[in-house]
Amino acid sequence: MRDKMSQTIEVTVSRYNPDMDSKPRYAKYEVPYTRGMVVLDALHYIYENKDSSLAYRWNCRTGQCGSCSIMVNGKPKPACRAPLESGRSYLLEPLRHFPVVRDLVVDLDRGVSRLQKIRPYLNRVRPAPRPERIPRQEADKVAELRKCIECWSCVAACPAVVDAWQEFIGPLGSRKLASLEFDPRDVEDRARMAFMSGIYDCTTCGACKESCIKDIDVRRDAIEALRAQAVGRGYGPLPGHADIIHNVETTGYTVEKQSTPFTDMVPEVVKVEDPVDEVVLFPGCLMNLRIQDVAMNVVEVLKRNRVQVKIPKEFQCCGSVLFRTGARAAAGKLVAQNVDYFEKLGTKKLVGLCPGCMSTIKQDWSLVLHEIGHAPYKFKAMDINEYLVHDLGIEKLNTKDLHPMNLTATYHDPCHLNRGQGISSEPRALLMLIPGLRLVETQESDRCCGSGGGVRAGRRQLSYEIGDRKMKSMADTGADAFVTSCSFCTIQLMDGAARLGLRQKIFNITDLLAMSYRGKGLAG
Ligand code: FES
Repeated sequence: MRDKMSQTIEVTVSRYNPDMDSKPRYAKYEVPYTRGMVVLDALHYIYENKDSSLAYRWNCRTGQCGSCSIMVNGKPKPACRAPLESGRSYLLEPLRHFPVVRDLVVDLDRGVSRLQKIRPYLNRVRPAPRPERIPRQEADKVAELRKCIECWSCVAACPAVVDAWQEFIGPLGSRKLASLEFDPRDVEDRARMAFMSGIYDCTTCGACKESCIKDIDVRRDAIEALRAQAVGRGYGPLPGHADIIHNVETTGYTVEKQSTPFTDMVPEVVKVEDPVDEVVLFPGCLMNLRIQDVAMNVVEVLKRNRVQVKIPKEFQCCGSVLFRTGARAAAGKLVAQNVDYFEKLGTKKLVGLCPGCMSTIKQDWSLVLHEIGHAPYKFKAMDINEYLVHDLGIEKLNTKDLHPMNLTATYHDPCHLNRGQGISSEPRALLMLIPGLRLVETQESDRCCGSGGGVRAGRRQLSYEIGDRKMKSMADTGADAFVTSCSFCTIQLMDGAARLGLRQKIFNITDLLAMSYRGKGLAG
């Protein structure tokens, strides 16, 4: 049966005519809604029925030409592949990082000319033989990367392609370089080109994959693959990464010991009366050696919920830094030692606070174990939010001992928790358990803070530039506290608050829960 127009949706469009306007303005339109509509249909409706001066690009309407990409409610995507939902309102803006020609039309020359510099075409030594036979396994390696329709959404989503578009070529160019690097017919040193094109500027936040209608995993298949090639040829990693990698290889941790490690502050088993569950805690390097108070608060929260906690005294780094910076060759041994140790401890549930660690354990460990012929791990790896909300069950959590906290907080979604593990509602649900706490949302709460992917260690200035934008958007909420759920983000936000002289303190969710259990507010 044909759909009937049943209601309208509100569509706000950024309008800008350089001949008449000094800056963009926003125009609101009521658009009749029909089930199955996409954003491009709304633009067609506005153009045909409301204002034929509206400028926007489109061609194929089937997600193939890549010409219709715009920002839809702050997220870049092809308008012909962005479904509309009834009851929602939409804000449509031109693609970020490009100069606006008019309304939703941007000048892509900035990106195209950046791309031209890497000679984005197959470069051979001599003409191909006919017929040219390419083994299936060689073609398969680049098949996913070749699905790109060059819509530039990934570039608009990328936090490292800052407005000045520094040396980083961005996800689209990196994807192109990887597709040529792994094409046996191409003779150029694409790994060197990638290194010279800022491959280490990527924070591995995954926003490019999220924006990609072809679901290309640029982080894994292009950025990290090119970094591994660059390390193999002696170009990478960056000097800032070398010490960290050396630390991991010699001490088992990314950072050196400066004070008593968390694992030395607590017994092997933190016992509780009448336990409902038992978990092994994965502290990660930073909670163990830098922010031990955060780890203590995680233990407090678990204790208050009658969960017995085993402390892995001899755990080692998860290897995240090795995977993210391309020094993957050293990862196999480290992961195997960790897995053997946790299996020996009798681990059934491995719970961690740091999303960088937990996404590495969930996504990289199995792959590397398979590569080195090691048996897969048998325990269940979980982020603390996931464990509390789903495994233990949010409805069963101890809320009667939570004391009111007069606090307005805003939450930063860590990339490796939100996009990396699909966990974003859980931290908010936990925060809302605290009586008196008011949660205000930061605009683009899921935008990267600039600490990941080795950027904080290797490209500190860029990391600050990305981080400052995040700090500003969090401060704009007027919240008293900035909350996150990640060791790396915590340190980056603390650093940013100090650098910018912000009044807000930085907390992890488990810090606030532990404070609420103890009956101490901010002053405590
Ligand atoms: Fe071609 Fe949208 S119109 S991708």
